[in-house]
This record gives sequence, structure tokens and C-alpha cells, in this order.
Amino acid sequence: MNLQEKADPQTPLGVYFHIPFCARPCDFCAFYQEEPRRGDIERFIEGMERELSRVSIDRPVDTVFWGGGTPGLLLARDLKRLGESMLQHLGIPSKEWTVEMAPSTVKADKIKALRDLGVTRISLGVQSFRPEMLDVLGRSHSKEQIFRAIDTIRGAAFENLNLNLDLIFSIPGQTVENWIEDLNEAVNLSPQHLSTYCLTFEEDTALWLRREKGQTKGYTEQEEAVFYEKTAEFLSANGYPQYEVSNFARSGFACTHNLNTWRMGEWIGFGPSAASQYHGWRYANVPSLNDWLKGISEEKPRQVDRMRLNSELLFADSLIFGLRMNQGVNLTHLINRFNPTNADLLANFWQVLKGEGLLEISENGYLKLTTKGFLLADRIGSEILAKLETKSAVC
Ligand SMILES: C[S@@+](CC[C@H](N)C(=O)[O-])C[C@H]1O[C@@H](n2cnc3c(N)ncnc32)[C@H](O)[C@@H]1O
Ligand code: SF4
Repeated sequence: MNLQEKADPQTPLGVYFHIPFCARPCDFCAFYQEEPRRGDIERFIEGMERELSRVSIDRPVDTVFWGGGTPGLLLARDLKRLGESMLQHLGIPSKEWTVEMAPSTVKADKIKALRDLGVTRISLGVQSFRPEMLDVLGRSHSKEQIFRAIDTIRGAAFENLNLNLDLIFSIPGQTVENWIEDLNEAVNLSPQHLSTYCLTFEEDTALWLRREKGQTKGYTEQEEAVFYEKTAEFLSANGYPQYEVSNFARSGFACTHNLNTWRMGEWIGFGPSAASQYHGWRYANVPSLNDWLKGISEEKPRQVDRMRLNSELLFADSLIFGLRMNQGVNLTHLINRFNPTNADLLANFWQVLKGEGLLEISENGYLKLTTKGFLLADRIGSEILAKLETKSAVC
């Protein structure tokens, strides 16, 4: 069984655009991005237009997510051109259109262009409100720029905007008290959505190199757990219930695009490094602007990590990502949906997790991780893969 054979027209369809440019890399970030040289943005947009013209979709698009990199680095006229090309080829997304912006890139003309295109969600990379933490992260914005960016976004008077703020915790030198102050600043700004990420030392980033040289130090797992538990406690008490390990939202404002990917729907990625899961295949575009453009001009798309989807893989990933959500997963529904041959291999595992206080099994058949389980979600995911003897390209 694969998604293509199932051909269920009800499966939600997402679209992801990777805009691979940043003015300069932040010290913690390992996402594929380049500093644009003269002509790069023009070449990128032309490549996107050609990539768009090659794709035919079999149902309307539900959600769009423009991430990066920094989509906000594009000029207003380029955002407009890219958005109009997308709308012309793929139609208007019926549920949601998110654009990631770094605070230093937010300008009134760009926001107005996005509003006029029909963007419904802006995700702002705040990371921290404390200048010394922004320094440690190597961010190129100030606290004042965060407030100005939010004023500019609100000044554009979107109809029903879902504003998300990204924040990071466990930054070297950050105390739990500092972190709660950051969360408090965020809540006072009244966004609809908050994403809070535990800092990861990604290999070969400037921050990772500093740690290798002994110039900085991360927190222990136990210390990270304190930050984590305080986050969920503070945000739910302030009107932002958690719906996923790193995500909190006011009622009705969860990110529909991400929910679709976590529920193993389908999505098509455009741009260098963008991943797709469509018509029975999972793959990513090559993470290089030049190689991606070469593939497009030779009409031979350059892809990496290409794999055929099968029941076992989709079942494993639905469990792993589903368990990261507060709603949890309904095992029977997943078994009926994917019909995997190996579900029995997990029968004891659920009882073991329950015995360790990491999992609850509700009467209506849902498996849900406890707060303690959420802290170990990555490890539980790896164990699920090992027990199911399945390889996943996502984890
Ligand atoms: C792909 S980035 C793009 C956001 C946008 N370019 C910006 O920086 O404002 C999305 C988010 O991932 C999070 N992130 C990236 N690298 C991370 C890391 N090493 N540890 C924790 N969070 C990270 C940050 O919160 C960031 O805002
Ligand atoms: S965090 Fe955002 S701005 Fe910084 S390097 Fe990563 S993608 Fe670029």
C-alpha cells in the first residue's frame, strides 16, 4: 500500500516553499540558507516559477508554508511576484498561508504585499527578548526591532491574522527566571500562537564550535526538563494550551500546515532543500541553490533521500509524530488506516511506557504521552522505530 494507490481525495494537501536566503547565518542554525549574491534572488524566483509550472496537483491546496531561510529578506515586489506565481499555478490555499519573518526584515510594504496576497499567518523569529541572549544566539535584531515588527504587522490590519512568535530556551547563560520573563513578554504581546524550542547544538554551527572549544556550555537534560516543564505550566495558565511538544496556541489557532505533516498527510515542497511527501514518495530537493537550479534547467530534478512510502513507514511516523501531540494517537484508527504488518511488535511497549509513567491509555483508545513522556519524546520515537524495525527519513 502506498499513498498513490490509496489516492484518497480527502487527504489534506500542503505546499512548502523554502526561501534559502539569510543576511547572515545565526550562530545556532543549521537550516539550509545562503547569503544572497547579486542576481541570486532573481535566479531563485525564476527557478521557483519553472518548478511550479512542472507540477500538477490532483486536488485543491489546503495550506501553504513559506519558510527558510528568511522569506522576509525578499523585497515586497519579489514577494508579490512569487506569491502571484504560486496562486496562478496552485490556486488559493483554502485553510492557511504562513510566512516566516525575522524581525529585522519586517517592513510595511512587505507586510502589505503579503496581506494583499492572502497570507493568514506570520511566524516571527523572536528567539528572546533579552539582548544578551540574542547576542549568544548571534541574532541580528534588537529587542526594539521585535516590538516595531509586531506594530508593523498589526498596522497592516489583516483580517484574522494568526501571529506566531518563535522562542528558544536553554540558551547558555539563560536562567529559568529569565526564560519566564521572556514568556511573559511574549504573552503580553498577545500573539495567537507560540512555538518554544529547546536550543539544539547543531553540528558545525558557530555555537557548536564554541562548545567544542570549551568557550560555552549547554544545560544537562535534567536542567532542560525544568525549563520545559515551566514553559507548559506558564503558557497553559496564561491562555495558551499546549497542542504539541513545542507548540502552544489559543483555541482555533494551531498551525494547520504542521498538523497535516505530523498526521502524515501529503505536501509538495518547492525550492532547494524543500521536502515532499506526495503520491507515494518522500524526497527532498537538493540543498544547494546552484544544483537545484541546474536540475530545473536540465529538466532532471535533483533530489535526495528519495524513498517509496509503505504502510510500515507511514504507521511508524504517524505514531512518532502523533505521540508528540497532546491529543495523542488512536492506535486502532492508525492500524485501520495503514494496515501495517508489524503493529503487534509494539504491544508490550505501550504497557512498559505506561508502567514508567510516560504514557496514558485513555478509555476511548487514545495513547498519550505524559509531561514526563514528552520530555523523552525523541527517545521514545527512536525506540518505536527500533521495535518496528522500520527506517524513517523524517527522524
Ligand atoms: C527555520 S527557522 C526560520 C525563522 C526565521 N528565519 C528567523 O530566524 O526569524 C525557524 C525556527 O527554528 C528555530 N530553530 C532553528 N534552529 C534551532 C536550534 N538549533 N535550536 C532550537 N531552535 C532552533 C528558531 O526558533 C527559528 O525561529
Ligand atoms: S534562524 Fe532564521 S535567520 Fe537565522 S540563520 Fe536560521 S533561517 Fe537564517
